[in-house]
Amino acid sequence: MKFFIDTANLAQIKEAQDLGVLDGVTTNPSLMAKEGIKGQDNILKHYVDICNIVTGDVSAEVISTDFDGMVKEGEALAKLHPRIVVKVPMIKEGVKAIKYFTGKGIKTNCTLVFSAGQALLAAKAGATYVSPFIGRLDDVSTDGLALINDIRIIYDNYAYKTQILAASVRHPMHIIDCAKLGADVATCPLSAILALLKHPLTDSGLAQFLADAKK
Ligand code: G3P
Repeated sequence: MKFFIDTANLAQIKEAQDLGVLDGVTTNPSLMAKEGIKGQDNILKHYVDICNIVTGDVSAEVISTDFDGMVKEGEALAKLHPRIVVKVPMIKEGVKAIKYFTGKGIKTNCTLVFSAGQALLAAKAGATYVSPFIGRLDDVSTDGLALINDIRIIYDNYAYKTQILAASVRHPMHIIDCAKLGADVATCPLSAILALLKHPLTDSGLAQFLADAKK
């Protein structure tokens, strides 16, 4: 399973890249705002800065909600860097835009997916990635991981190439469960990736080995 980091924070992206296990980055307008990135020029420059840190795909989201606007924005984003993936919301105009980008060879990430039907549409439109938001489903007492399982079954039934990118991942068990269910990618906060490292028996075992090495 690929690991993406879900942030626009350059220091965190660099830390994850330096760990050697990072396969890409996802951003969204909320994550950009959280870093205080404002104004079109600064936003575009920030995407390029991210692309220059990592070696994998970098999702950059359009904010238009009409087909023409999404196409204009998406084409400009795609021109920024070969690693840019145009992130498009799961709405009617978005599906049309994904189909258009697919025809142009521009990679897409269909975001804000909360149902298997939406994921099926994204795959039929040719999305490179589909982003089911598992944490936000859990937040409303709906099983986010069950959605990953449903999408995996549907995509495997028809050999759709769209990659399942589990999003809104909140903790290490989400990552492990996504891996068990066959998600292609999990996009995670740095804290969830680093939490995978932790086990008290590792810490106590290492302390013992280091103590014994001094004997
Ligand atoms: O990748 C989507 C993600 O940023 C949403 O996460 O925690 O805001 O639901 P969250």
